[in-house]
Amino acid sequence: MAQTDMKQKAGAEPAVPRQVERNRMRAVMNNIILHLHPTRVPAPALKFTYTWGLGGLSTLLVVILVATGILLMFRYDASVERAYTSIQYLETQVMFGALLRSVHHWAANLLIVTVFLHMLRVFSTGSYKQGRATNWIVGLLLLLLVISFNFTGYLLPWDQLAYWAITVATSLLGYIPLVGGIINHFLLGGSEVGQVALRNFYAIHVALLPPLILLGMAYHFWRIRKDGDISQPQCQENVEKFTTIPYLVQIELAAAVLLIVGLFLWAMSVPAPLEALANPAHPPNPAKAAWYFLGLQELLLHMHPLAALMLPAILLTALALVPFGEQRSDDIGIYFRSRIGKRVALVAALLGLALPPTLVLLDEFWVDFPTWLPSLPTLISNGLIPLLLTLGGLAVIYGAFRKGLKANRSEATLGLFLFLFISLIVLTLIGISFRGPNMAWVWPF
Ligand code: HEM
Repeated sequence: MAQTDMKQKAGAEPAVPRQVERNRMRAVMNNIILHLHPTRVPAPALKFTYTWGLGGLSTLLVVILVATGILLMFRYDASVERAYTSIQYLETQVMFGALLRSVHHWAANLLIVTVFLHMLRVFSTGSYKQGRATNWIVGLLLLLLVISFNFTGYLLPWDQLAYWAITVATSLLGYIPLVGGIINHFLLGGSEVGQVALRNFYAIHVALLPPLILLGMAYHFWRIRKDGDISQPQCQENVEKFTTIPYLVQIELAAAVLLIVGLFLWAMSVPAPLEALANPAHPPNPAKAAWYFLGLQELLLHMHPLAALMLPAILLTALALVPFGEQRSDDIGIYFRSRIGKRVALVAALLGLALPPTLVLLDEFWVDFPTWLPSLPTLISNGLIPLLLTLGGLAVIYGAFRKGLKANRSEATLGLFLFLFISLIVLTLIGISFRGPNMAWVWPF
């Protein structure tokens, strides 16, 4: 007894408390994990190819972004005189500074991809139905937050790319009826992107959006537990169950390690871009928006800005209402619903690949409503008419799935969603590769 006391006084750690400490840590970790997951999960939920881990990977990316973002804040200076040089300083004078910025940059871009794919998975498996409508809408809000994060972060390096992409994007805000001008004035503090805009974007990026997204995610996870954990096919009630620890946790850990290693390797080989210092007098030609807005920028080339903004707003609202228009629940947890659903999905994918480029080329080289209908104001000839034609076209596609392919409501809605999803990708690719000086059509090959 006396000997033990002497050892403890001398600073030597007794073996038993260390074991106790380790057990306590493990208990805390298990507790966290079991707050996020049920204690046992059905075999299908363990299949990686059901969720593709996309929700979990998005979560991990948000954590990486918050951690790297906090470190970046120690060096970044949100003033138009010093923002660019503070990034240069970080990249050249701070140990691992370039890597830190690169990881933050690529994680932010990857997050957009994983969140969109996660949404695609949720839609394709009908996991927004039967009590999951609230979480579907929370998910849509998270998507908007992720886009806002990227958008506000884009300006911060204050290089040519940042300055002109944000100038292009904010100039569109003015077209939103009633509130557009107010939002624009609030963000820019005037008519141009300058010091007020930089300070506001920084404040929104580091002070407003992080707590919002963390709260949104916490609610999203809580709802998943409350809605009876992630969806699965209904007929599988007697299915075998496995304990979350270690079976589910080891899959999640493997996916997390792969993501972290892949992200770091990519960030080391492809540095985050930094162009010349922003120069308000010299716009690049073409002045393109950030890649995730190129689909929208493409629409702007074909429609009046008000119509080009209304279209995504209408589609987003429709997307939020989708769960309320569907009663079927027997197809939840089944990719593409059924055999007919798979056929519809294939046709929708092919249509999504073929129709948007055809329409873009037709409009580029032939269709010209303002010239054909000179007596009408452009808001009608180039706004209302293309908008109604697009919405009418979508209704025809939905009707064709219902009548032509004998799809039920759920399958036809999925078809329409896939068509829009692929169309968005195609429009984005057109914006990246087929638009040159003055945003005119160019062939990249
Ligand atoms: C920051 C963005 C997001 C994060 C971190 C996130 C995270 C997660 C996680 C971890 C899950 C568990 C299952 C899985 O991995 O698929 C999940 C499920 C779900 N998410 Fe998200 N999510 C995000 C955005 C979205 C979006 C954009 C939507 C749809 C618009 C959405 C709708 C849902 C729904 C409905 C479920 C339940 C799915 C089921 O029961 O199978 N989430 N989310």
